[in-house]
Amino acid sequence: MKPAYASYVCGAVRIRTLTEADLRETLEWRNRNGVRQNFKHSAALEWNQHHAWFLSYRDKPDDIIFIAEHVASGKKVGQVAIYSIDYAGGRAEIGRFVAAPAFQGKGLMREAITGLMGFAKQELRLNSLYLEVIETNERAYQLYSKLGFNEVERKDGLIFMERSLNGDVQQ
Ligand SMILES: CC(C)(COP(=O)(O)OP(=O)(O)OC[C@H]1O[C@@H](n2cnc3c(N)ncnc32)[C@H](O)[C@@H]1OP(=O)(O)O)[C@@H](O)C(=O)NCCC(=O)NCCS
Repeated sequence: MKPAYASYVCGAVRIRTLTEADLRETLEWRNRNGVRQNFKHSAALEWNQHHAWFLSYRDKPDDIIFIAEHVASGKKVGQVAIYSIDYAGGRAEIGRFVAAPAFQGKGLMREAITGLMGFAKQELRLNSLYLEVIETNERAYQLYSKLGFNEVERKDGLIFMERSLNGDVQQ
């Protein structure tokens, strides 16, 4: 079982942990054509797979998925996640970023990821974060660069990026 985490606000967005009631929407967002191709497992997921994944996710202490919500309207903006959390080593991977279609390209996912970095630093006490992005995903690559992630390596069509949390996380 994972610990309960309070929601975390960054600018116009709040991130709060994923619940079973969010799963229909997150499956739809993730399966959209043009979205799923940006993930290593690019096939559309079935509901049974998605739900079974959620049941096993609930028992993992090193994996936290958040729904980002627009504070003013309460509407769901997208999903962000932090996983492979290495508390002893002070680092973790972030990703599984998906914008809700109505909110894509409005700058709110940038706030949601900034909020996730603040959470990682202040609540989890981590020192650095890393991520992977598919080479053809220019939009995501630009976003991560603006958020202070530096390219470390390119291999097999993937770009590996990392960022220290020791300075300011607001860009
Ligand atoms: C990646 C993703 C989560 C980003 O969310 P978003 O709502 O598009 O991003 P935001 O509007 O918050 O981000 C703003 C930054 O993203 C980049 N960006 C946003 N739209 C863009 C576009 N149409 N073309 C190029 N870059 C774009 C820019 O760097 C922008 O910064 P700017 O506002 O200073 O110009 C979203 O596009 C998405 O769901 N993509 C499909 C799934 C995916 O690729 N996930 C990441 C896997 S690694």
